Amino acid sequence: MIILIAAAAENNALGKDNDLLWHLPDDFKRFKQLTSNHYIIMGRKTFESFPKPLPNRTHVIITRQKDYKVENCIVVSGLKQALEVSPKNEAVFIIGGGEIYKQSMEIADLIELTRVHTTIEADTFFPEIDPNDWKLLSEEFHPKDEKHQYSFTYQTFGKK
Ligand SMILES: NC(=O)c1ccc[n+]([C@@H]2O[C@H](COP(=O)([O-])OP(=O)(O)OC[C@H]3O[C@@H](n4cnc5c(N)ncnc54)[C@H](OP(=O)(O)O)[C@@H]3O)[C@@H](O)[C@H]2O)c1
Repeated sequence: MIILIAAAAENNALGKDNDLLWHLPDDFKRFKQLTSNHYIIMGRKTFESFPKPLPNRTHVIITRQKDYKVENCIVVSGLKQALEVSPKNEAVFIIGGGEIYKQSMEIADLIELTRVHTTIEADTFFPEIDPNDWKLLSEEFHPKDEKHQYSFTYQTFGKK
């Protein structure tokens, strides 16, 4: 099962200047809950946007740089190789960013999208979810509150 997990605004905005666009603690908690103890596949830029590797997850980093090495992480030269090194009989998460999501839409089985209810300027965007390819399986609304600057909806899409 290949699961793409992302948080995107109404205009599909994902990030700017290699950083996220919001701080939504409950979404972080959900991300942690879903991805912990699994392989997480990411582009080199997303990896470098973290202050440090995320605990309890195996990081697979995609780069074209031949000499790129990170302690305790697996470095690969493309998405195909990333999937080859990942386990076949369990959930594997593709965690971004924009370039990697775009290349992964075709091979993903599920999208765990947090749709953040705002429109915001960005330099990195989530691809359009084509309703011919994807079916909304469930959704759960989370209101704006003192800890969350925007309301958002967890949406799970399955490949048709
Ligand atoms: N909102 C969210 O859910 C979310 C999630 C993740 C990231 N983000 C945001 O997204 C932004 C980063 O995304 P991004 O699109 O700029 O970069 P990215 O997808 O994280 O990484 C791009 C890099 O991946 C490598 N790469 C991409 N395609 C490849 C291929 N076919 N073969 C080999 N290597 C390949 C290249 O690394 P080299 O240059 O080293 O060759 C490329 O520069 C940041 O702002 C981050 O905060 C948001």
